[in-house]
Amino acid sequence: MDLYHSIAQRKSCRKYETQPLEHSIINEIEDAIKGFDVLCPSVPLEYRFSKKTKGRFNAEAPQYLVISGQGKAGEMENTGFLFEQLVLWLDAMEIGSVWLGSSKDLETQNTEKDIITLAFGRTTEQVHRTKDKFVRKPIGKITNAPDDVCIQAAHLAPSGVNTQPWYFEKKGGKVMVYEQKLKPPVSLMYKLSDIDMGIALCHYALACKETGKPFQFSRVTEMPAKPGYLPFGIIE
Ligand SMILES: Cc1cc2nc3c(=O)[nH]c(=O)nc-3n(C[C@H](O)[C@H](O)[C@H](O)COP(=O)(O)O)c2cc1C
Repeated sequence: MDLYHSIAQRKSCRKYETQPLEHSIINEIEDAIKGFDVLCPSVPLEYRFSKKTKGRFNAEAPQYLVISGQGKAGEMENTGFLFEQLVLWLDAMEIGSVWLGSSKDLETQNTEKDIITLAFGRTTEQVHRTKDKFVRKPIGKITNAPDDVCIQAAHLAPSGVNTQPWYFEKKGGKVMVYEQKLKPPVSLMYKLSDIDMGIALCHYALACKETGKPFQFSRVTEMPAKPGYLPFGIIE
């Protein structure tokens, strides 16, 4: 499946047909997830399907995928990295989806370790859009290397409240990755920036694959300080 191609046409879909997807497609989704790359193999994630969720910014969909962990460090970026591949896979299959940061699963009692929900299904709106319809910060605000194809792919990544909290600083053969410190009032209600960082790294890694470059990321905090940002890691 050409996930890279979907980066420049995916959009969040919020209008769905009521009919759930066939079992055969759900099986294909499960097989696809098994084949996706992970960011940190030592941080396990689980997922389950649900038909009912609720939340302040919920989208009504015929089914949802709820991702959960064990409360370990690294789960959020791992979630973004792994399941953004599913988002792009769905887009390539003409199936819409949207990340839902504040929706809770109503079919399960114990939801403490739930990380995030994805709504997905066939849509009553367009599944794709053209590149000029992406609402993003100017690329110069998120990097010192705007001509880098991998950073251009990260630039199109979705993020909660469209915060786009990433900064990619290219120096020598390395890229230092920073996470923006959000300011109030957004910082008071939105705590999922690490998921956004994983999503952007997923786009970056897919562009590396497409252009035949290796992708190796380590989560390090010892990096030159950047005002307004937290050190997130290094891509080598
Ligand atoms: C971690 C995360 C949480 C999100 N939560 C919600 C949500 O609760 N409700 C919603 O309608 N959209 C949600 N979104 C979708 C974003 O609003 C959307 O990705 C962003 O505005 C950019 O638009 P695009 O995905 O169409 O490129 C979320 C996205 C991410 C990555």
